[in-house]
Amino acid sequence: MAKTREIYICRACGGTHSKWMGKCPDCGAWDALEAERIDRAASTDPQRGLAAGWAAAEMEPKEGAAVAQAAGAVAAAPLAEIGRGEGPARRATGIAELDRVLGGAEGAMGLVPGSVTLVGGAPGIGKSTLLLQAAGALARAGTRVLYVSSEESAEQIRQRAGRLGLLDKGAAVATARTGETPVPPGDSLLVLADTNLARIFEQARRTRPEAMIIDSIQMVYKADLDAAPGSISQLRRCCAELTHLAKLSGAAVLLVGHVTKDGQLAGPRLLEHLVDTVLSFDGDRYHAHRTIRAVKNRFGATDEVGLFEMTGAGLREAPEGASLAAIEGLDAPRPGTVACPVMTGSRCALAEIQALTATGFLGAAKRKCSGLDSSRLAMLIAVLEQHGGLRLADRDIFTSSAGGLRVVEPAADLALLLAIAGAHYKRSLPARTAVVGEVGLGGEVRPAPRIEMRLREAQRLGCTAVICPALRTGEAPRGLEVIAARRIGEAMDRLG
Ligand code: TYD
Ligand code: MG
Repeated sequence: MAKTREIYICRACGGTHSKWMGKCPDCGAWDALEAERIDRAASTDPQRGLAAGWAAAEMEPKEGAAVAQAAGAVAAAPLAEIGRGEGPARRATGIAELDRVLGGAEGAMGLVPGSVTLVGGAPGIGKSTLLLQAAGALARAGTRVLYVSSEESAEQIRQRAGRLGLLDKGAAVATARTGETPVPPGDSLLVLADTNLARIFEQARRTRPEAMIIDSIQMVYKADLDAAPGSISQLRRCCAELTHLAKLSGAAVLLVGHVTKDGQLAGPRLLEHLVDTVLSFDGDRYHAHRTIRAVKNRFGATDEVGLFEMTGAGLREAPEGASLAAIEGLDAPRPGTVACPVMTGSRCALAEIQALTATGFLGAAKRKCSGLDSSRLAMLIAVLEQHGGLRLADRDIFTSSAGGLRVVEPAADLALLLAIAGAHYKRSLPARTAVVGEVGLGGEVRPAPRIEMRLREAQRLGCTAVICPALRTGEAPRGLEVIAARRIGEAMDRLG
C-alpha cells in the first residue's frame, strides 16, 4: 500500500472527498477543493505533535487540575465529582468591551485559561491593534503574554506599541528588565516575529506565557507539512497543535484569522470546530466605529457586542451607551433622519436611520440599504404603499444607518418607515424625538423587546419624546413624553 494518499478538502465547508472536482458536492462552492497529503505512517494523534515533547518532559499539573484533566483525561468519572475545585479563573484582558464579549460572570469576565479564541476580521479593520492593546493591558496586570507576529517585524510592533501608548513610563516591549516601574508591560509582554510553528513552540516553552497571541494563523506554518502557509492542511494542523498547546499549558491562546472577501473566515468550518470561541471584529473601514461580537462561544453567551472607536492612538472603548451616530440632527431634525435606540448585545445605543427618495423609473426603481436589512426595507416599502398611502413604485429609495452601526433588529422598523415617509414628504419629526417599534404586515405597530432600557437610554442621550407602541404603566421613564402609535398612520401624523 502506498505510504501517502491524497484527499481533497473543501475550503468553504470542510467536506472531504477522494478525488478533485470543480464543484464541492457538499456545499456547491466552485474551485474550492484543495489537496491534502496524508502520510499513513505518521500518526494523527495530537499526542505526537509539537506539544507532545514538551508535555512529556515537563507538564506538572498546574493552573488548576481541570486543565490538566482536560488534556490528559484517561478515566471516566461521575459528573458530580468533576471539577470540585473552583476551576481556572478567567483572566480579564483589561479591555472591558472585549471581556464582556468573551463572557463570564459579573466581575470575572475575560479569557478562559487553556481556551483558544479565534478573532476574525477584514484586513485593516484593526485586529492587530486590538490584540496588541489587549496584550499590553494583560501585561500591565502582570500576566505574561507572548505576542507572536507572523506578519510584522518586531520593530514594527514596537512602533505600533509606541503609538498605542504601551511604551509609556519607559517600559520597553522587549525582554529587557527595567526594575523600577511597578508592572511595566515590557516585563511581561514578550514579542516574537516568527512564522515557524516549531520555533514558536520552543519560545512558548521557554517563556511560559499565560496568554499567547498568534497574529495571524494564516501565515504560520509547520515545516514538516508539504503545503503552503494558509492552505487548509497548514491551517488545520497549526490550529490543532496550538489548541493542544493551550490545553496542556493552560495558556489562553488568541488566534487572528483573516476573512475572505465574502466575510467568511478562510477555512471557516475547519477552524471554527477546533477553537472554543470565535469572535468577529467588524466595522466599516471608512468609519471609526468597530464592533466585536462572538459568533461561537463555548464559555459564554453570543449576544454581547463590544463597541470601539478607532482613533489616532488606537482603539478606544466606546463609553457606556454612547450614541453611535453623531445625532446632531436631534435639535434640528431633517426630513428622512430618525433617531432610534437599538440594542447591541445587552446594551443600548442611539442609532441614526436615514432615508432618501429620488425620482426613479417605474419597474426599475432602486432600493438600496447600507447597514440595514434589505428584506425588511422591501417589506416596509410595501407596508407604506398598502397602509400608508404612499406611492413609491417609481421612487428610488436609499437608506442607511449613519455611522456604520449595523441595525437589523425589527425594533428599528418604525424608525426606518418614518425616515422613508419623511424623506418622501420632505417633512421631519419634532426635535428630540426618538422612534422605536416593530411594524407588522397589517400596518400595526408592535412592541419592541427591552423597551424600558431603550427609553431610558434615549432620554439619557437627550431625547424628550418617543414614538412607540402603547406601553404598560411604569415602562416609560418620568419626564419622557410618550407618543403611543398603534398603527403606522398615527406615527406618520407626527411628521410635521
Ligand atoms: P491593524 O490593526 O493593522 O488591522 P488588521 O490587523 O486587522 O489588518 O489596523 C489597521 C488600521 O488601523 C490602519 O488602517 C490604521 C488604523 N489605525 C489607527 O487609525 N490608529 C492607530 O493607532 C493604529 C495602530 C491603527
Ligand atoms: Mg494585522
